[in-house]
Amino acid sequence: MSAQVRLVKPSFEYSQLMYNQAMIDPLGEIYKDIKDDEPFFRLVDEFYAGVENDSILRPMYPEELTEAKRHLALFLIQRTGGRTTYSDERGHPRMRGRHMKFSIGTKERDAWLANMSKALDQVPEFEKHRDELWAFFDHFANFMMNRPD
Ligand code: HEM
Repeated sequence: MSAQVRLVKPSFEYSQLMYNQAMIDPLGEIYKDIKDDEPFFRLVDEFYAGVENDSILRPMYPEELTEAKRHLALFLIQRTGGRTTYSDERGHPRMRGRHMKFSIGTKERDAWLANMSKALDQVPEFEKHRDELWAFFDHFANFMMNRPD
């Protein structure tokens, strides 16, 4: 909220409106624009193609990546406002908890983000949402870190 807004001592309706506006989550609006699961699966395929050749990340993931791909795609579809199959199948995302069994420091975070950045560049449908998605991935990858360097 800007300093100007705080100075005007808003009426209830106005403050409610500002509250509602503050609640709009730009990431949660992306699916409405994309309207299709397929680009999310393509993004995840590109990301995992990078992981397959990444000497830092590859050893952390299971041999067989089909389920890992599906979970990440469904999570991203849900997080951007699409269907909720991820939580229907997996329950609450608890992402930090789910990542605790992997040792994630700066080098793992940077490797993850580098692969995701390359993947985003390969899927034109996300071009206009790149900034919001990037802010989310960057924030989230930092949040997943669980090992001091
Ligand atoms: C910071 C570095 C990260 C590393 C090293 C990492 C690593 C991993 C690994 C090894 C798995 C397990 C895959 C499997 O066994 O199937 C996993 C699962 C997952 N990761 Fe990450 N991850 C990172 C960041 C992120 C970020 C930023 C996101 C979200 C944008 C994310 C979303 C997921 C999801 C949705 C799953 C599947 C969880 C489930 O089992 O339902 N990860 N991650």
